[in-house]
Amino acid sequence: MEKNIQSEMLEAILEAAVDAIITIDSNGVVQTVNQSAIKLFGYEREQFLNRNISFLMPEPWASEHDAYLAKYQKTGERKIIGIGREVEGLRTDGTTFPMHLSVSEFEVSGKTYYTGILHDMTSRKRAEDALHRSQRMEAIGQLTGGIAHDFNNLLTIITGNLELLSMRLEDDSHKEFLNDAREAAEHGADLTERLLAFARRSVLTPEVVNLNTIIKTTKSMLARTLGENIDIETSLDHGLWDALVDPGQIESVILNLAVNARDAMTNGGKLLIETKNIQFDSKYVETEIGLKPGRYVSLSVSDTGHGMSEAVRDNAFEPFFTTKEKGRGTGLGLSMVYGFAKQSGGHATIYSELGMGSTINIYVPRYDGIDQPKKVARRDDLEIVSGNNETILIVEDDPKVRAITVSRIKSLNYKVIVTNNGTEAIAALQNHNNIDLVFTDLVMPGDVSGYDLVEHVLENFPQIPVLMTSGYAEDLLGNGKLASLNVELLRKPYRQADLSEKLSEAIHSKRKSID
Ligand SMILES: Nc1ncnc2c1ncn2[C@@H]1O[C@H](COP(=O)(O)OP(=O)(O)OP(=O)(O)O)[C@@H](O)[C@H]1O
Ligand SMILES: [Mg+2]
Repeated sequence: MEKNIQSEMLEAILEAAVDAIITIDSNGVVQTVNQSAIKLFGYEREQFLNRNISFLMPEPWASEHDAYLAKYQKTGERKIIGIGREVEGLRTDGTTFPMHLSVSEFEVSGKTYYTGILHDMTSRKRAEDALHRSQRMEAIGQLTGGIAHDFNNLLTIITGNLELLSMRLEDDSHKEFLNDAREAAEHGADLTERLLAFARRSVLTPEVVNLNTIIKTTKSMLARTLGENIDIETSLDHGLWDALVDPGQIESVILNLAVNARDAMTNGGKLLIETKNIQFDSKYVETEIGLKPGRYVSLSVSDTGHGMSEAVRDNAFEPFFTTKEKGRGTGLGLSMVYGFAKQSGGHATIYSELGMGSTINIYVPRYDGIDQPKKVARRDDLEIVSGNNETILIVEDDPKVRAITVSRIKSLNYKVIVTNNGTEAIAALQNHNNIDLVFTDLVMPGDVSGYDLVEHVLENFPQIPVLMTSGYAEDLLGNGKLASLNVELLRKPYRQADLSEKLSEAIHSKRKSID
């Protein structure tokens, strides 16, 4: 190759390189820059040339650079040259960014030069940070989910016993004590509920809904909760896609976010609720781990309050993280919001700075299927429905839960056969021909799990209805197995009224379908 063609080619390679390449002389003065460097730092080519390279570094490195270079030339002691490492760059607009810098040394016509190759690490760093954050949330979720599960069992025992006691209590003046105890237990159940929501183990009853409709109905309730010096505005996308989510949970998400906003606006302000259709491409998703590219419905709640510092923002989704005084906040509001978004196949993000207000965004996947799941009516005041002396086979491994279950069911006017696990239950089914219903826990140790038992009953005793109980939502999902079996589930902890209703429903539904 001819000499001048060769140098033309070298120059073209330099200009075309994806990474920034900058050459300095032995005094640190810039000799050459390529197109990528111009783009990366935001200066014109002329602004680089004949200037000391330190203007591309933040302090303290900028002031130290000359001395560092001189020391290297004198002693040969090196920190970057020939090695490379991660450093920070300073753009023309004053912002800094992480970059990997590798420097090599060469000589031309007896003079020493250094050339640096700079690789922008911004998006890689962001992805790493997001990964760490999401792994951390995952770990905390597993921990809290486990604790909440145990608490559910304890609360089942407590509320159950209190209810039995209250039925037998003759002296009305003592009822007050019981009521206090029951309220405390209900408060506990509320906390575990939110913990389970964070751990993505809520029992969700998703429906195809338009978030706009939910926002419209929640708005008047919000106005009452937030008081007069907060203006509520909405900006709703009229062509908003439907989403498959639990509407009750969406309401509680909105309420949680609105209460947070109120707490951040002690002197009043503005609350804005927005909905939008949004399509995430893989570029965005890269920085937000756990979100698949695709179409989402976004719900944003913004306020003009005091905002969050970086430290608060980074921890706000974690359970029990609160900056509120004791007794004012439990630190579970945003955790519940985050867990709900994740469990619904979406994501949640926070944009906030001190003094600049806050925006919390929830993304849930757009619904574009055809099957509308059956709507489940929610009822708050259930009546106790007693049985007709039917026989119920109880399967429960936890002895305390078992004891309380037995007395609760007996008090509803049923006869009981009690077993400790799936194997015993299968034997009991063989030995008794008068069983009207199988009531089983889902998570049980031993060879026969709750799922196995249910399958066994459906196959061998199709005339016997089954009611399952569990504290976990994921048990119920169980690889989609149970959903296809179409068996009723009673979520722990449950009230006597819930139990009585589910038992009666299960017994009668089967009868009808057999008649
Ligand atoms: N809109 C907001 N503006 C400013 N800070 C907020 C906002 N929302 C949340 N935060 C900060 O995040 C923390 C955690 O919020 P989160 O809702 O999880 O718990 P909490 O409100 O403190 O308690 P809880 O919701 O359980 O009553 C808050 O204590 C607050 O410091
Ligand atoms: Mg809150």
